[in-house]
Amino acid sequence: MKSYLWRALCPRMLALPVLFGTAVFSSHAAQPETQPITHTVFRPGQPWPDTNGVHINAHGFSVLNVDGRYYWYGAEKIAGKTEDEKNEAGVRLYVSDDLLNWEDKGRVLDVFAPGAHPALAEAFILDRPKVIFNETTKKFILYFKLYPPKEKGGKSGKDYAWVGMATSSTPTGPFDYKGYFLGNHSEFGTGDFAIFADTDGAIYHIAVRKPDKALVYGRLSADGLKPESEYKVLEGVTLKTEAPAFFRRGDKVYLLGSGTSGWNPNPARMFVADRFTGPYTALPNPCVGVNPINKLGPDKTFGGQSTFVYPVPGRKDAWIAMFDINKPEDPINAGYIWLPVEFEANRPVIRWRDEWDLAVFNKP
Ligand code: DGJ
Repeated sequence: MKSYLWRALCPRMLALPVLFGTAVFSSHAAQPETQPITHTVFRPGQPWPDTNGVHINAHGFSVLNVDGRYYWYGAEKIAGKTEDEKNEAGVRLYVSDDLLNWEDKGRVLDVFAPGAHPALAEAFILDRPKVIFNETTKKFILYFKLYPPKEKGGKSGKDYAWVGMATSSTPTGPFDYKGYFLGNHSEFGTGDFAIFADTDGAIYHIAVRKPDKALVYGRLSADGLKPESEYKVLEGVTLKTEAPAFFRRGDKVYLLGSGTSGWNPNPARMFVADRFTGPYTALPNPCVGVNPINKLGPDKTFGGQSTFVYPVPGRKDAWIAMFDINKPEDPINAGYIWLPVEFEANRPVIRWRDEWDLAVFNKP
């Protein structure tokens, strides 16, 4: 029986380790009971065991190519903790040669390491890590949304947030914490964010401004460690657009994002501009089809929320739209949706597929 059918029939079993093919889906602390499987296709929304047979624990993630290898950095969730608790142990790295089979390389930023900076050790949330290579300093920079402890952040702990940074000379880390800045130079800081390298070499921090939730951008310093300009609103982007992910196609820049509804899914948003700085024009929801696992379609982004759009190296017009399936009551078992971005009538379309592989990008 296909595992999504099995899961639909046995929803209560989801809290338990799930038998998936010949592998076991559980927290990374658990040992697999059988031999791990080799993936030959992407299966959006399905458990995604790593090469040890353990579901990948790297959420709100980004992917980076270094010398032909792929690096997946994501927030490592702690088993048994909900999103209402401090539930992130840091940033975990997985490495792959084919984007399908991922080897767990462990924690590259450790919130609980002896001597960890108090801003890390006390952080309430460490969310949405994004890694880039900085050409000027030749360092890998890891950016993340860093919420101070609840007692410093108001009653919800989410009233303001910092942008945390850590650097490493190698993609495998460990990353050294380098402090934080307040996005938008605002006392409230910013929330969900993206880092975008423009064609002229400028690196931008784009983020949801608190408290009004406009999407704003500021240019970062050459070393990538602080904003060096004023922030401006990205004109044309609908207010309360979060989970931003940018990609370029020719001379157009596209922005994939979500609306704002906490951890619950909402319709995906897509915008296009002639230059990164805008102005942007709204396009139709790019999602098409239905996720048969949860029966959710475009009005709920198949149950996901955007986190990154990855241009597949070495291929023309090949992007993977990457989403988290948030699971606030059990975030370690939250899932992933990876789907190709296609262009139809010059508009991006993200069509649901139960299975797919990179051959979809083989153009005639
Ligand atoms: C949606 C954001 O995209 C997530 O990263 C997280 O901050 C939740 N909101 C919190 O409600």
